[in-house]
Amino acid sequence: MTFQVTLQPSGHQFQVEPDEKILEAGIKAGLSIPYSCRSGVCRSCRGTVREGEVDFGDVHPTYLPDSDKAKGLALLCSARAKSDLVVEIAELEGLAGIKPGIVPCRVVKIERPSADVAVLDLRLPMNENMRFMAGQYVDFLLKDGKRRSYSIACKPSAEGVSHIELHIRHVPGGHFTDRLFAGEVKEREVMRFEGPLGSFYLREDSNKPIIFLASGTGFAPIKAMIEHAIARGSQRPMQLYWGCRKPADLYMAALPEQWAREVPGFSYVPVLSEVSAQDGWQGRTGLVHQAVMADHPDLSGHEVYACGVPVMVDAAQRDFLAQCGLPEDAFFADSFLDESSKAAASV
Ligand SMILES: Cc1cc2nc3c(=O)[nH]c(=O)nc-3n(C[C@H](O)[C@H](O)[C@H](O)COP(=O)(O)OP(=O)(O)OC[C@H]3O[C@@H](n4cnc5c(N)ncnc54)[C@H](O)[C@@H]3O)c2cc1C
Ligand code: FES
Repeated sequence: MTFQVTLQPSGHQFQVEPDEKILEAGIKAGLSIPYSCRSGVCRSCRGTVREGEVDFGDVHPTYLPDSDKAKGLALLCSARAKSDLVVEIAELEGLAGIKPGIVPCRVVKIERPSADVAVLDLRLPMNENMRFMAGQYVDFLLKDGKRRSYSIACKPSAEGVSHIELHIRHVPGGHFTDRLFAGEVKEREVMRFEGPLGSFYLREDSNKPIIFLASGTGFAPIKAMIEHAIARGSQRPMQLYWGCRKPADLYMAALPEQWAREVPGFSYVPVLSEVSAQDGWQGRTGLVHQAVMADHPDLSGHEVYACGVPVMVDAAQRDFLAQCGLPEDAFFADSFLDESSKAAASV
């Protein structure tokens, strides 16, 4: 037995199995439903069930309290259908025609620009030319059935790309990154990923100045967005705030420094949180999102794209909206949730 889901206001319809998550079925059907973490945390996939009945899934009350459930709100990455449904959710026009697939790839090169960051160059099959939006991610499908998400760090092209670049930070004790940094993933190895995924991408229907906010390897999708904007000759003012702990953690600092010299309207502010006198650091210090707030007490006319560790993304969203007047619909983000943050968020 399958159930039919109708999305409003688009009227798009798709079928979902009783044991299947509604979001997964919608993505499979090629629909542009917003989503990021697929773990019931980011709330990007929140829709309103107008007709029918759902099983809300194992969602922590922090992210979907009973009062929201009573209003029919559901996180589509966690909810399953118990009948035919009508769900209200704003689909994303920018993702139309971008459909994820399972893609084999060869690891062509692994570079180590800093002690705990690896930059991977992956080659896709000759006929694969993947189309994606700048900012999206892929999921490595590991041999043991686990998945790990990594943002695409290079710009897309209209005809699709045959290589992608990933920036991966070592998380000590991590299932995949321990293997990667122990040298168990080798150049020439063949891997598989699913992608492109997610709805963190550069909105091009706005002229507002952009603040890009990255922590650590959160620079990866931001790099893709900035390279894409530069390639398209965007006239929007762009400012990048990149937060790390130590100077060496700014593993590609030469690139934003070059953009700041060469791209009109672009500026770069590195912000370090754990510098000591020996580092000889002359630049900004403290929390990266607070540096943005110090420079821009009024963000009402900006768009913000934030990516990196959940604590930074959450603080930026909370404080920019509450203290700097950033409109809710002008904040776009991907949080790098790992297994520990997912475990903390599960019921
Ligand atoms: C949309 C998205 C995009 C991402 N993009 C990037 C990117 O571009 N670059 C990047 O570096 N990272 C990115 N990440 C993070 C990445 O997907 C991985 O989570 C990260 O690399 C860690 O993977 P791992 O397998 O090494 O660690 P994990 O196995 O996930 O472990 C992480 C930590 O949690 C601990 N842990 C594991 N299981 C549990 C548990 N059950 N309870 C408590 N603690 C536990 C481990 O000991 C370890 O310290 C992204 C994440 C998301 C969601
Ligand atoms: S809460 Fe559903 S995609 Fe993040």
